[in-house]
Amino acid sequence: MKDQLEAIRVSAAEALEAAVSLDELEALRIRFLGKKGALKAVLQSLGSLPANERPVIGQLANEIREYIEQAARTRAEDLGRALQAARLQAETLDVTRPGKDYSLGHKHPMTKVLDEIKDIFIGMGFTVAEGPEVETAWHCFTALNTDENHPARDRQDTFYVSDDVILRTQTSSVQIRHMLEHKPPIRIISPGRVFRKDEVDATHSPMFHQIEGLVVDRGITMGHLKGTLETWMKALYGPDAKTRFRPHHFPYTEPSAEMDFRCFICHGTGCRVCKGEGWVELGGCGMVHPKVLSLCGIDPDEYAGFAFGFGIDRLAQVRVGLADMRTLLDNDLRFLRRF
Ligand code: DAH
Repeated sequence: MKDQLEAIRVSAAEALEAAVSLDELEALRIRFLGKKGALKAVLQSLGSLPANERPVIGQLANEIREYIEQAARTRAEDLGRALQAARLQAETLDVTRPGKDYSLGHKHPMTKVLDEIKDIFIGMGFTVAEGPEVETAWHCFTALNTDENHPARDRQDTFYVSDDVILRTQTSSVQIRHMLEHKPPIRIISPGRVFRKDEVDATHSPMFHQIEGLVVDRGITMGHLKGTLETWMKALYGPDAKTRFRPHHFPYTEPSAEMDFRCFICHGTGCRVCKGEGWVELGGCGMVHPKVLSLCGIDPDEYAGFAFGFGIDRLAQVRVGLADMRTLLDNDLRFLRRF
């Protein structure tokens, strides 16, 4: 029996030494020390021994139990350390390695200019209004005092979705939408895309951007219009910015004007960009026609308003100093990265 016990000690020692995981160690502990384990099996036959040998064998069995338990603990600690070391090795992080270079994009020059414009108007107490790009002919023309036979409604110039639905040719339609839903005082700008059947060249594109402005209140005059537009131009282009107003005609304003900006390339002497004029046309404006106010439920005897509509592409071209507007839409990164 003593030999049997020694044999258990030896085979347990070998097995524990060979174990490579904590699960395996636990299984071995059960195999040698468990209720149905090898040691128990020997101890169960203790009764068959002569009485004087029992304490000796019993003591040896205890010794071996302690030995195996101790050996299992030691092996578990060793294994734990080894596993930990292997994990640290596998998960090593070299914090001195240079990081990945993510190239962050930036805003398109036109978006930047538009942001500047919004800031300027918000600073003057305006809010930003929106309207749909797919618009009814009524909002885009009829309500703006532009009758059925007006050339602006021509199918050669306007994209028709159906007889009554078009791609808006001007952001002026937002004036109507806003006045139908809001009563004076009104002070809005509305930037957005507009569409016309134009071939692409240095100054034309079938899609371009406009910014609309509308102010309606008691006692509004042409002076407010000029003051607002000049303040805007000086804020955007600097204190030396020069503007001029020319009489013009729009069906929805009376009187109407166009505003020019002194050429940013030649400063007025005449060049290719201003076509020798010394001035660049930026947009139209005027006092909101009484018919338009009435149609939107605003009494023209009590209220007056001014409105304007400018091409943002042109404003950006002037702001950034571009000879050819097409570069704004080309998406050429060599160009865009300059901003
Ligand atoms: N809608 C005009 C255009 O597209 C620009 C314009 C002129 C807008 C006069 C206005 C305005 O609000 O009062 O050419």
